[in-house]
Amino acid sequence: MFRKIKTIAILLFGISYSVFSQEKIAIYLDDTKTISERVEDALSRMTVEEKIAMCHAQSKFSSAGVPRLGIPEFWMSDGPHGIRPEVLWDEWSQAGWTNDSCIAFPALTCLAASWNKDMALLYGKSIGEEARYRNKNVLLGPGVNIYRSPLNGRNFEYMGEDPYLSSKMVVPYIQGVQQNGVSTCVKHFALNNQETDRFGVNVNVDDRALYEIYLPAFKAAVQEGKTGAIMGSYNLYKGQHCCHNQYLLNDILRKEWGFEGVVVSDWGGVHNTREAIFNGLDIEFGTWTDGLTMGATNTYDSYYLAKPYLNLIKKGEVGTKELDEKVRRILRLAFLTTMNKNKPFGSFGTQEHALAGRKIAEDGIVLLQNKNNILPIDLSKVKKIAVIGENAIKMMTVGGGSSSLKAKYEINLLEGLKNRAGKQTEITFARGYVGDASGSLDGVNTGQNLSDNRSADVLLAEACTVAKNADYVIFVGGLNKSEHQDCEGNDRLTLNLPYNQDKLISELAKVNKNLVVVNISGNAVAMPWVNEVPAILQGWYLGTESGNALAAVLVGDVNPSGKLPFSFPVKLEDNSAHALGEFPGKNGQETYNEGIFVGYRWHDKKNIKPLFSFGYGLSYTTFEYGKVTAEKKEITSSDKITFTVTVKNTGKREGSEIVQLYISDLKSSLPRPVKELKGFEKVSLKAGETKTISFTIDKAALSFFDDKKHEWVAEPGDFEALIGASSTEIKSKIGFTLK
Ligand code: BGC
Repeated sequence: MFRKIKTIAILLFGISYSVFSQEKIAIYLDDTKTISERVEDALSRMTVEEKIAMCHAQSKFSSAGVPRLGIPEFWMSDGPHGIRPEVLWDEWSQAGWTNDSCIAFPALTCLAASWNKDMALLYGKSIGEEARYRNKNVLLGPGVNIYRSPLNGRNFEYMGEDPYLSSKMVVPYIQGVQQNGVSTCVKHFALNNQETDRFGVNVNVDDRALYEIYLPAFKAAVQEGKTGAIMGSYNLYKGQHCCHNQYLLNDILRKEWGFEGVVVSDWGGVHNTREAIFNGLDIEFGTWTDGLTMGATNTYDSYYLAKPYLNLIKKGEVGTKELDEKVRRILRLAFLTTMNKNKPFGSFGTQEHALAGRKIAEDGIVLLQNKNNILPIDLSKVKKIAVIGENAIKMMTVGGGSSSLKAKYEINLLEGLKNRAGKQTEITFARGYVGDASGSLDGVNTGQNLSDNRSADVLLAEACTVAKNADYVIFVGGLNKSEHQDCEGNDRLTLNLPYNQDKLISELAKVNKNLVVVNISGNAVAMPWVNEVPAILQGWYLGTESGNALAAVLVGDVNPSGKLPFSFPVKLEDNSAHALGEFPGKNGQETYNEGIFVGYRWHDKKNIKPLFSFGYGLSYTTFEYGKVTAEKKEITSSDKITFTVTVKNTGKREGSEIVQLYISDLKSSLPRPVKELKGFEKVSLKAGETKTISFTIDKAALSFFDDKKHEWVAEPGDFEALIGASSTEIKSKIGFTLK
């Protein structure tokens, strides 16, 4: 009897235990529960060691999950222009997979130049699908550091000089990526505006410039885009490395903006265990014990947030509160990505993605000059085209640092033009100059052999001979992705074009009046030959479909509609960082003396005429603007106000115009820029068509950051709304008053 009772009791206990424990297990795995319930449940089941393991890398690009609980590893990938090839566990060299060749999308400068939020969404969606297919749950991008100097080697990975433009473009990019169950990791937070001394430079910047210029795109990424992750930057601010920075990460990102996501360090950006514990970092990457190069067998255990952290906890010197906070955030991201059962499968290297890249490229190419309308080239009339220049044949997706890609294919301009021109038009090529003949990075080889030992004079003479006999000459030059060009790790040394190109372009202009210069770069370059050359196209780095996109614009299949996301100064001293400062700094300090007067804000203030201004770009058609009207004359600080303007396509073909709204504060207690971008719309118009464009703003568009009060202030008084085709081509304006 007693044995029977005992058996029944054990049975009942077993059933209730298993019901109970099943229910318990179910909480973190149960997607009907809220994310915070699941997070708390998972957290409660984890050991300190398991938690620590989540806070640092376990390989070059991954961090641990919790295998015991079935929580997968985190896998990151660069970003931001395509999905980087797989690398070896502990090394940067590629792993040699044969199925990781991606679609290379245009560089972010090109996306910004499209001024097209739909393109940003398409970009995000497409690259997000690629990331998802490759089983990455965090994409290391996009980058939104402000274009402060044209010498910054990484400007090509960012979205230009204006905080409003980059804020508006980054949000749809993030949304597009994240709808795939892949998180973006917006980088590099913050003030990472140069590559020289990037691990050691301390940036001195006033609060107005910090809040008005350098932070808005990050804030938009957090509050509007809801990015799942942010990457700290290498440099220092207020003497503290930005990957564990009290001011940037705790005070601003978390407290002021309410960021709930994960802060990831840049690779090798962590330098101190206690700061990493207390100053906002969640996952440490790339430390490899001693900077970026020296490894040891127990490498990952030696990370600042690995054993050293565990030891401090074990010794009782630090508690586990911060650890739990970090792991909560990491788990939350896991539930949004790897643990999200409803995420799609993604797709990789598809034609759809290549065509998306091409569309974005075509939308972002900027026509800078077109005297006598020599473009587009009429292929029915033109019999012979000379293509000159290394960038017409060089594969540009390999190189430039961490954004380097192994592209499935890449069409260069020479191929693109040949594809399009067919047999009727003869296309000849001459190299013109030798820039960088190499084509490999971390074991990815372009397979191109571009070595050429001929002298500059011989190359120039050959180019001129080829050019002389052609109906049109297309020179394709600019920068490339090698060191001191557009490349991570170092900055450019001069605004001028390298490799004898200035001379070459002038000589080509002498022998053929139908010269088109295609500048491939992610930065402004000096153009001493600007008046000798009838047509200039800004070609960026366009990725997989590069040559097809450029050819489509050159021959007029596509009407160019991009506008510059940053100013081209005539000379370096016309840029405020160079006029007022000692870029890239002295004794480890870089001071932003220009404050808020970055880019066109400086040109406006000093009445400096740029070579090509912010917001500028031509079309093969023409547009006529009506006069701007305002719905009212006065507003209060809780009101909105709408401005309306008509734009008519007065030319013979369809085209798109980017209509820009700038706001000018006529009188204020603190210095303000003459005007600031506060709205834009890209509108497509058929020949003869007119459309009405409206912009609605509120007090945010009128505000400045009052550094004394530490808040945004819209000061009552008179303002003007300016409608422009660029920052220097204001079509009409209207006054209004904030009561
Ligand atoms: C770069 C980051 C990049 C990381 C991983 C760093 O050198 O600054 O932008 O995401 O490497 O490749």
